[in-house]
Amino acid sequence: MKKSRFPEGFLWGGATAANQFEGAYNEGGKGLSIFDMVTFVPKEERGNNIEMDVKSAKELEELLAGNGGDNFPKRRGIDFYHRYKEDIALFAEMGFKTFRMSISWPRIFPNGDEREPNEEGLAFYDRVFDELLKYDIEPLVTLSHYEIPLNLVQKYNGWADRRLVDFFVHYAETVFNRYKGKVKYWLTFNEINISTLSPYIGSGILIDEVENKEQTIYQALHHQFVASARAVKACHEIIPDSMIGCMLARMEVYPETCNPDDVLEALHENQMNLFFTDVQVRGYYPSFMNRYFEENNIQIDMHPGDEEILYQHTVDFLSFSYYMSMVASSAPGKKKEKGNFFSGVKNPYLEASDWGWQIDPKGLRVALRQMYDRYQVPLFIVENGLGAYDTVEEDGAINDDYRIDYLRAHIDQMGEAIKDGVEVMGYTSWGCIDLISASTSEMSKRYGFIYVDQDDYGNGTLERRKKKSFDWYKNVIATNGEVL
Ligand code: BG6
Repeated sequence: MKKSRFPEGFLWGGATAANQFEGAYNEGGKGLSIFDMVTFVPKEERGNNIEMDVKSAKELEELLAGNGGDNFPKRRGIDFYHRYKEDIALFAEMGFKTFRMSISWPRIFPNGDEREPNEEGLAFYDRVFDELLKYDIEPLVTLSHYEIPLNLVQKYNGWADRRLVDFFVHYAETVFNRYKGKVKYWLTFNEINISTLSPYIGSGILIDEVENKEQTIYQALHHQFVASARAVKACHEIIPDSMIGCMLARMEVYPETCNPDDVLEALHENQMNLFFTDVQVRGYYPSFMNRYFEENNIQIDMHPGDEEILYQHTVDFLSFSYYMSMVASSAPGKKKEKGNFFSGVKNPYLEASDWGWQIDPKGLRVALRQMYDRYQVPLFIVENGLGAYDTVEEDGAINDDYRIDYLRAHIDQMGEAIKDGVEVMGYTSWGCIDLISASTSEMSKRYGFIYVDQDDYGNGTLERRKKKSFDWYKNVIATNGEVL
């Protein structure tokens, strides 16, 4: 076998998030989280409109009173809470070196603002980590993946309130102390840039309750930056051999043409996307944001010491999700296609998934090279994959060749980027086991190597079944990415 492009010890694995797969939303002392309040709206009703945000206190009250129907898919997830042993055994069978998961903040602090943690919640993650370590699978743990305790929304309007910094740091220190012998790799906020696009999901803000929306959104983000830097500091102190990273939803944006106006438009969008990692990796606000803040009447309220904290406690690595690329155009009135949280002009050179996400493996190579040039820190792809409808054949087989094709092409481009000189720590494909979609709350939008028998309404046996991609990925890992 020829030498692999991937370094020895490369962290192959899969990724999940508590709110999308644990279920057991009211067991083990867990409090409600923001995503426990989001209902399923069938495609026929929602069309292409993806609305996840709860916007007002009244709307939230009605949901709590049960007026939002009773289909809250993230409350049931896929029942990992009770089936973690079976699921981890399957990950081990594929040869996972790492497994990305999040800790549900309200499982540890049901209200988010109490001092004493919930022991039952802590004990659950002990069991999960022990099970992973039994198979030599390194846990990669996100502290906050759209799981803000609902009480923090109701009482403080989420991250709009600076007091959340202390609550979050206390939560982070609690789990660092508890799991210091078990977890080495950590991430602070999942897709931190979502907070400016979706204020409820990203920052727990009921946006209709505030007057100056842009100001509130960026102030809340500043609080998250400070909280993240303080968590980095705590992590290094409590777990000296740890590595802790930030996490960005990377959106590679191309100009529609070589018209300098299009080029400028794309540059602008790329900068707006990398602004978040500029702060978390370099440790300061980039100067291009000054103009944006000025034109949008935003004044960040910095407390004494904030700048030092941001500068001194930057992350060890940059992790990101990559699903698609986008196109920017300067022409007015151009029709835009909706991706996950982003939208852009259609790229005629690319095909799209059934959800309109434009498939662009080379864009991953571009993203890796651009970010490595900019930051010179190790990169980690912690989400990538194809959301697709799967069919179970009469004999029980699930022939997901489309998924294999997508992953093969992306992994190949990642290998090329490594040859280009980019330092990549690992790759965890998204939703390695089918789980609830973040944006649409569908179960039928599947990413996994493992099929879970459940539909959009919670019907099904929850039985796990290997797809064709299961053995394919197993071989990718066994050959360290050489056989794709
Ligand atoms: C990322 C999120 O935005 O994309 C995940 O971090 C999410 O939580 C993933 O599930 C895929 O998006 P979706 O909407 O297809 O589930």
